[in-house]
Amino acid sequence: MRTNQPTTIRLSEYKVPAHLVDAVDLRFELFDNGARVHSTLTVRRNPESAEEFAPLELDGDSLKLEQVILDGRELMAGNDYDETGAQLVIARVPAQFELTVVTWIEPQNNTRLEGLYKSSGMFCTQCEAEGFRCITYFPDRPDVMARYRTRIEADKASCPVLLSNGNDVDRGDLEGGRHFVTWEDPFPKPSYLFALVAGDLVEKQDTFTTCSGREIDLRIFVEPRNAAKCQHAMDSLKRSMRWDEEVYGREYDLDIFMIVAVDDFNMGAMENKGLNIFNSSCVLASQETATDLAFQRIESIVAHEYFHNWSGNRVTCRDWFQLSLKEGFTVFRDSTFSADMGSPTVKRIEDVTLLRTAQFAEDAGPMAHPVRPASYMEISNFYTLTIYEKGAEVVRMIHTLLGPELFRKGSDLYFERHDGQAVTTDDFVKAMEDASGRDLTQFRLWYDQAGTPVLTVSDVYDSERGVYSLKIQQAIPDTPGQTNKKPQHIPFALGLLGAEGEALPLRLVSTEDAASAPTERVLELTKASHTFEFHGLTQKPVPSLLRHFSAPVRLVYPWSREQLVFLMSHDPDGFNRWDAGQRLAVDVIQSLVDSSGTVDIDSRLVEAYRTLLADRTLDQALVAKMLHLPSEAYLIELADSPDVAAIHRTREQVLSHLATSLRDELVACYHRNMDDGEYEVTPESVARRSLKNTALAWLLMINDNTGRDLALQQLREADNMTDRMGALRALVNSDYAEERSQALADFYEHFQSDPQVVEQWFSVQASSDRAGQLPQIQALLKHPAFDWKNPNKIRSVIGVFAGQNLAAFHNPDGSGYSFLADQVCRLDDSNPQIAARLVAPLTRWKKFAPAYSALMRTALERIRNKAELSADLYEVVHKSLEA
Ligand code: TRP
Ligand code: ZN
Repeated sequence: MRTNQPTTIRLSEYKVPAHLVDAVDLRFELFDNGARVHSTLTVRRNPESAEEFAPLELDGDSLKLEQVILDGRELMAGNDYDETGAQLVIARVPAQFELTVVTWIEPQNNTRLEGLYKSSGMFCTQCEAEGFRCITYFPDRPDVMARYRTRIEADKASCPVLLSNGNDVDRGDLEGGRHFVTWEDPFPKPSYLFALVAGDLVEKQDTFTTCSGREIDLRIFVEPRNAAKCQHAMDSLKRSMRWDEEVYGREYDLDIFMIVAVDDFNMGAMENKGLNIFNSSCVLASQETATDLAFQRIESIVAHEYFHNWSGNRVTCRDWFQLSLKEGFTVFRDSTFSADMGSPTVKRIEDVTLLRTAQFAEDAGPMAHPVRPASYMEISNFYTLTIYEKGAEVVRMIHTLLGPELFRKGSDLYFERHDGQAVTTDDFVKAMEDASGRDLTQFRLWYDQAGTPVLTVSDVYDSERGVYSLKIQQAIPDTPGQTNKKPQHIPFALGLLGAEGEALPLRLVSTEDAASAPTERVLELTKASHTFEFHGLTQKPVPSLLRHFSAPVRLVYPWSREQLVFLMSHDPDGFNRWDAGQRLAVDVIQSLVDSSGTVDIDSRLVEAYRTLLADRTLDQALVAKMLHLPSEAYLIELADSPDVAAIHRTREQVLSHLATSLRDELVACYHRNMDDGEYEVTPESVARRSLKNTALAWLLMINDNTGRDLALQQLREADNMTDRMGALRALVNSDYAEERSQALADFYEHFQSDPQVVEQWFSVQASSDRAGQLPQIQALLKHPAFDWKNPNKIRSVIGVFAGQNLAAFHNPDGSGYSFLADQVCRLDDSNPQIAARLVAPLTRWKKFAPAYSALMRTALERIRNKAELSADLYEVVHKSLEA
């Protein structure tokens, strides 16, 4: 067991840095067996620090220190400086000085993928959050902002391309077949935004003319074999640049913007100044190899990283407690961008699905934390759905409360006031307040209180007075370390529908004129309980509550199934139509689970889906979403003490019942949506493919031979990956065992040289209860294409198994848990960030029915007892066992 526990860092203990760095001059000598890093810092005492004689403290991790020179004088270890494990401390320093530090590092042995490492032969970096300290000694905190000049020296043949942040200002040849390039970044930045890339890369080049007429050089660097897969990312980049000018008034600042694709990467992508580094799977795409989902994901991630140039880089975070300042805001920005590029309703459905399935689960679990956490042990563990997705919802609520014009005034003020600074979430809210004149004091609780608020709504209709009253109560559940929470400020959008589906005027006072009263309002909840009266109603309306999901809350209202069916076909808010369908399906499935399958499947569900399949007037992208039953993960999240096997069985039973009852409609839907035109990624054609592939999946659920033949034909004839994958997935999840193995083998044979496709091939098996039982998962780990050093492969087998193949993972014999514990322990030694993420499904042990939770706990305890537990894994495992 780990003897020294990692320290807890607290927001309340924040102190301004004692020293500031104005300039960093770096020289990298890159070799096969390691790299020498020469760093010269221009340092001065921080006038705002109270500690006048503070020692200079620089962070370092896994460095071999070779030399320290202060103002030209070489310092002696022990005498002049101390090197503890994690810091270089120089006790006596002048008020202003130049410090040179020389370190030796071994990128080729860096499996953590933090700092400088090698991926498929190329050198690359990942410095957020605390990776720069793995490169050289430095005050590695975001409130130390410096100007960087970086000279890279390497072998010219193996590393013809040498990149860093900013503009290249010098280049030339060196002895021994080596060469160098020098880069200069004119914008002061925190160390986490530093980047370096050196390798044998080809580039795709384009230009963008900004709103003020400047021409920006755009380049995407990839390995030669991927040269033809950059067009979509380039187009996405140009759309993002235009959108940020039009919607936020933000123009790009440097003369060049670069993206590099690397295969081994812990996360999706990284917004390093002028040199974004991407996980290959988040940038490379072609019609033959990427699904529609991948195309959309790439567009939104390219946008996300690009938008960080203002929300993150020009204005950055004071400390890591403020992470949501850049991430929540930037997710809000990329989500609005994607909504504008495609279907806003569909984008909202996707965002809310992720939030309700995964963020609500996190908020109800042992790692629950506020959007601005008060403490952490390992910051990498706080790149969470709460920081990103709930953080984006919080910004979205400000947008709803202020309206688009005042919100824009607020963001303009924020960017102008804080340009070049490292600031807090409070500074963001303050700018919104100052620009709008609104008081957001109570609203700030969204940043401090963890847990998902529960809104319980009840209603009465008084026919004599013609008044409909809605009572809305809010309560916020306790979370680790937080009880007795205060009511939050919640924007609550709603409408009321009459018997024919007409939108009724919402008159909050009886004197209000019906003709001018709006049919949708945003009520503002600030107290534990409110009652709102709506006047002049001649009948009890059907309420359409929390439209567009106007706040990240759980909504409890006693819907009848008639009301839900009614809303599914009448609600003018597309999001709530979809939500009504989800609630109906959840209700049907839950009552079957509760009755152990003794009640009949409600025919209203079948008829509602029949209507949907026949509806040709409704947006087909919305229909495609509405046809997806709530996921197992969501059903589990909604249940207390879920019995996973029962939920899985019941959901499959409902699916087969629907497929059997609607068989002819499904075949018709398939044929109607067979595309004969050119492949394009427009909302309409994506919807057609989605409808077609859903129909196919349902037909194969019931082992329909027509469905099987259609799938085989589609697999042979498809000209794009969405259709190939749709057919493969349907076959893999069917009982046609022979066709399944043949299809999987053929597919691999065809695509084995493409890592992104192989990852999809792994996931389709790992997520299937037919092809992804534990012995088959074990076999995938032995497959030649599996690679323990590649996070994407790990995620596509182990992560997908534990996160999506829930019945197999929660096998009542505990084998899934014990398997995951083994893999997590193994990975902790090579890549602790990945290990700590992978363990998440086990940390929810308390939620499950006792038979499951005892076994999950045992698996967690085994991880806790592992020798040399990383700080990353220590924090997650201990918090989940002790919560
Ligand atoms: N800032 C990145 C983003 O755009 C997140 C990120 C990329 C990251 N790589 C990382 C965070 C490594 C922690 C560790 O969201
Ligand atoms: Zn981000």
